[in-house]
Amino acid sequence: MTVKHRYHRLRNTPAIRALLQENHVTKNDFVMPIFVHEGLENKEAIPSLPGIYQHSLSSLTEEIRDIQAVGITSVLLFGIPKNKDEKGKQAYANKGIVQQAIRHIKVQAPEMLVIADCCLCEYTDHGHCGVITKTGLDNDETLKLLQKTAVSYAKAGVDIVAPSGMMDGMVGAIREALDIADFEKVSILSYAVKYASAFYGPFREAAGSGAHFFGDRKHHQMNPSQRNEAFLEAQQDIDEGADFLMVKPASHYVDIIRDLKNTTELPLAAYHVSGEYAMIKAAAAVGILDERDAFEEVFVSLKRAGVSMIVSYYAKAYLS
Ligand code: PBG
Repeated sequence: MTVKHRYHRLRNTPAIRALLQENHVTKNDFVMPIFVHEGLENKEAIPSLPGIYQHSLSSLTEEIRDIQAVGITSVLLFGIPKNKDEKGKQAYANKGIVQQAIRHIKVQAPEMLVIADCCLCEYTDHGHCGVITKTGLDNDETLKLLQKTAVSYAKAGVDIVAPSGMMDGMVGAIREALDIADFEKVSILSYAVKYASAFYGPFREAAGSGAHFFGDRKHHQMNPSQRNEAFLEAQQDIDEGADFLMVKPASHYVDIIRDLKNTTELPLAAYHVSGEYAMIKAAAAVGILDERDAFEEVFVSLKRAGVSMIVSYYAKAYLS
């Protein structure tokens, strides 16, 4: 019997596999998410995200030192304020926790690329991503607060603002506000394609940002079934001046990443979210799968799908 194509020949040895490997995961691919909590003296473990902490400003110093030591050069900051209110005022306070953290990192590690999540849900007492009126979320009022937040991050020295609230027009509004304030060098990483996902569960515990009434975020985050809307969302943000686009969550949305890769030249990011991380950690903890191998497979799949940047809670552990 003649077997014409024997593809095993392309995989037979470590040397041939290495020679032919199409996609690689390197330390340059990662962005490390960091939670900074205004109310803390020391770091505090997040039970649903084993290995991840809410940091105080002083434990942030150690965290930055540790992640630099493994070669990570970018961080994504999330803040948890001491006080929350209806309008999320601490999001745009000059001395807000994220603003303080940005200044702190820029003194300690000036070459670290600092990205800051720009959304109100961690700062509002109702846990929603914007201003709430009797009829629901007020998109356009929310844009004004996102503008203020972005400019206050820029004043603190942020490199990249990352709006994550899926408000319509958020990129254009933030770009305009940054430019008017002479921060044309500050970039926008838009969470352009963000699905209403069950996989954000642990994050909402970590950031204390669960919505307290009319439940979910399905009225502004995307329905997981939708593909065409991803193009619309991405195109809107491209037109409004986004510098990078993010797809979120990651693992179950690689088709969307590839669709966007085929349509835009802008760099793409994927956010491997809290639930995706927690799931692998939980399975590994009971011996169901190998933790490192599982994460590596996820990361290389994201590279194969077409991303340039991977936001992952496992970044530090992976490179350690
Ligand atoms: C909103 C925001 C969320 C996440 C990142 N930014 C939560 C949400 O939309 O409910 C989730 C990230 C994760 O699950 O790791 N500020």
